[in-house]
Amino acid sequence: MGLSIVILAAGQGTRMRSDLPKVLQPLAGRPLLSHVVDCAHVLGAEDVCVVYGHGGEQVLAAFDGQELRWALQAEQHGTGHAVMQAMPDTPDANRVLVLFGDVPLLTPATLERLLAATLDDEVAVLTVDLEDPTGYGRIVRKDGNVVRLVEQKDATLAEQQINEINTGVMLSPAVRLKAWLDRLGNDNAQGEYYLTDVIEMAVSDGVVVNGVKADDEDEVMGINDKKQLAQAERALQARLVDELMAKGVGFADPARVDIRGTLTCGKDVFIDINAVIEGDVELGDGVVVESNNLIRNSRLGAGTVVHSNCHIEGATTGANCELGPFARLRPGAELADNVKAGNFVEIKKSTIAEGSKVNHLTYVGDAEIGKGVNVGAGTITCNYDGVNKHRTVIGDGAFIGSGVELVAPVEIGADATIGAGSTITKPAPDEALTLERAKQLTVKGWRRPVKKGS
Ligand code: UD1
Ligand code: CA
Repeated sequence: MGLSIVILAAGQGTRMRSDLPKVLQPLAGRPLLSHVVDCAHVLGAEDVCVVYGHGGEQVLAAFDGQELRWALQAEQHGTGHAVMQAMPDTPDANRVLVLFGDVPLLTPATLERLLAATLDDEVAVLTVDLEDPTGYGRIVRKDGNVVRLVEQKDATLAEQQINEINTGVMLSPAVRLKAWLDRLGNDNAQGEYYLTDVIEMAVSDGVVVNGVKADDEDEVMGINDKKQLAQAERALQARLVDELMAKGVGFADPARVDIRGTLTCGKDVFIDINAVIEGDVELGDGVVVESNNLIRNSRLGAGTVVHSNCHIEGATTGANCELGPFARLRPGAELADNVKAGNFVEIKKSTIAEGSKVNHLTYVGDAEIGKGVNVGAGTITCNYDGVNKHRTVIGDGAFIGSGVELVAPVEIGADATIGAGSTITKPAPDEALTLERAKQLTVKGWRRPVKKGS
């Protein structure tokens, strides 16, 4: 039987107290809902339908271009009502797996177990035992079999003592689910159409209901407020870091790193505390990331060391580069092997060839720097005339003295030397010293002003 997955994502998430719809709240740098959508794709569903409603435009825009079916639930009348919206275009021949957009840590492995344990004409719910089940729907069993699900607000005191809860994941043959949903009522504490009421109907129709238990309570955690969002973030980070450690990546403290994207590492990479990794980041063999670094969408070559407090975005380095402390690499910074970008150095949209050094207090923008160049402290490429950006080209082996302004467009020749403090506006030839300075003057007999009245 084919598999259809329906993801419920129409709820407002009032308890988030946010203008952002709940399913777009970020977890590991991307919307809650995208974690569930990815899981659905891994399961190989032939049809993935998202039921959306609250914050509709925003939700659609966030998933623009992805292959998904969308069903609008204009008013939210409960989880059963939500699933109904997805049914018209769901093939009768399929099994339907219902997932919640606010249960983002579920793994494909757990769902595969549920699918494998359930025959085509059976129903299944994924459950878990919780020490504190408050707020969740409870699983009522009789002689070990699931007979009913009851919401917290409708539960008797005795039922409230049950520790086995409904994670929200439900599996059913499509045809039967459609028939049961048609008979659903809303005579309950919340006046909603509960998806969970389907279970009692299944049982009275003689259909087997499997209660499959998840092993890990983090995995089935429902996110309703910012506290649970933060708990889920830590749980997911722990999972990501565990996977990386298993591949040999070293962390000073697995609890003090945040990976919001994909981190790919070579051998013997070491990451000190407070690293934030965003987007696609690749670290070559032996890369060391010291404390307090943000690295976003960048590729660092083998043996590169990122000293403390750098901000690196959209950059690439070759092997054995040294960055920081306190360096900022902006998009388009391309460093070849053995390049140094030291403290308070900002590099944007520039290529720096092998072995060049930009060690202190410098801005390099829209530049092409050759091999073995030394850029002195406090040098600035003046790339912007207020309207357009212009390029600076520096030849191999050039030596730029401290405090130089290179007013682009400008070209510095190979092995040229630029005297400290110069403002260079014209081409500087190869192998020569070029400088631009007013003559030094000493005024004899000059006195410092004295304070009036004293
Ligand atoms: C639901 C379950 C409860 C379970 C818990 C697990 C029901 C009746 N209750 O309760 O048994 O223990 O989840 O986390 O199913 N949604 C819609 N449209 C609606 C209502 C909800 O799309 O009209 C979506 C929400 O966006 C959310 C999911 O369904 O993604 C769950 O809704 P929520 O209101 O959080 O249900 P709970 O009260 O937590
Ligand atoms: Ca919930």
